[in-house]
Amino acid sequence: MRVRFDPSGPLHGTLRAPGDKSLSHRAAILGAMGCEPVRISGFLDAADTRSTLRAVASLGALVERRGEVVMIRGVGLRHARQPSAPIDVGNAGTLMRILPGWLAFQRGRSFVLDGDQSIRRRPVDRIAAPLRKMGARIETREGRFPPLVLTGASLAGIDYELPVASAQVKSCVLLAGLATEATSVREPRPTRDHTERLLLAAGAPLRREPLSGGGIRTTVGYADELTLEPIEVPGDLSSAAFLIAAGLLVRGSRLVLERVGVNWTRTGLLRILARMGAVVLGELEAEGSFGPVEPITDLDVRSGTLEGTTVDADEVPLAIDELPLLALLGCFAEGETVVRGAEELRVKESDRIAAVVEGLRGLGAEIEALPDGFVVRGTGGLRGGRLDARGDHRLALLGAVAGLASRSGVEVEGFEAAAVSYPGFASDLRGLGAGR
Ligand code: S3P
Repeated sequence: MRVRFDPSGPLHGTLRAPGDKSLSHRAAILGAMGCEPVRISGFLDAADTRSTLRAVASLGALVERRGEVVMIRGVGLRHARQPSAPIDVGNAGTLMRILPGWLAFQRGRSFVLDGDQSIRRRPVDRIAAPLRKMGARIETREGRFPPLVLTGASLAGIDYELPVASAQVKSCVLLAGLATEATSVREPRPTRDHTERLLLAAGAPLRREPLSGGGIRTTVGYADELTLEPIEVPGDLSSAAFLIAAGLLVRGSRLVLERVGVNWTRTGLLRILARMGAVVLGELEAEGSFGPVEPITDLDVRSGTLEGTTVDADEVPLAIDELPLLALLGCFAEGETVVRGAEELRVKESDRIAAVVEGLRGLGAEIEALPDGFVVRGTGGLRGGRLDARGDHRLALLGAVAGLASRSGVEVEGFEAAAVSYPGFASDLRGLGAGR
């Protein structure tokens, strides 16, 4: 589906971004692992999280949707049912990589996880390796890719250092760790910690210690059951980021984004934007905070001028999904915007370094790819043209924002990919006055 986004006059209004995708996946999975019904409000209704609801239902959980609220009655920690067909994760890397942590200790039952063409290109050896060390039986295609075939076993604890800064891998190992006496994950650089917060809230034995050099060690121990209180999923900062970028770039704009999640492990973009001189007001969580609660704030965005900045490896995991947008913002900033240490972008829903560099160049940007990032030279604007989303939701959303801020508009090829995380984006933009 080809959708055109024309240069826009000022955007104005108050809006609630869709529910957090990372948290919605986790809430549904943990809900299925519990045995009492759990109420999840603000659950993201998008393609990725529908895949998760279908997956947990196929494992025996009862799922009921009541408008904004999803109720899940889980099967209990050790009683996932063996589904009669492969679990289809669709486009959802988070589901593909986190769910096996639970399934790995469903003794004697086998599970097949598969997904779309994009998922089949995304590595799962990163979870197979630690799970095998714990005693799980796993096979992958070509030793690296989905489909993933897993047979549950009794697991032993490990102390695992993450070879890539990945919250998905960390979450997978921590879930598996609930079936062991003690399992630790060491991350040299902090990544999003939603799983840890939910586990803590669910009464799992979990503790965290800082490591020298800024890393974190998280340890979980044996749990009989999880006891979940009602979960409120905040708005997704990664989706709100597209509205923030539109508000910053379209001259004369002023937006208020309500109830956005601002867990500090997700707000890297807001710290980077502050360095670039952007005005985005809101009460952010202090860096290093930890607890069972997910902090929420309203964000107030005003358009203005931006300066280029440099983002290094330490900041990358805290803004990983927003880095493509930073390339777009860099086109409008004064001077150079550089991102390094982000080679993980190459194995996201698309090769996001190639897709962003080629996509933005086609719209008139001065941008070069690096093996692990990109360099953009700000020229104060963007001509416009055609951008191929390559089946990647974040590229589709980026193309739309680029169109509003461009001189001649942008036609986004494959805009339907936006439905993976933000199905209502085009209509939300219209509600803010885009195209008027
Ligand atoms: C996610 C973690 C990140 C992120 C992805 C969602 C999660 O991936 O890019 O969109 O929900 O845990 P990695 O953990 O693989 O870096």
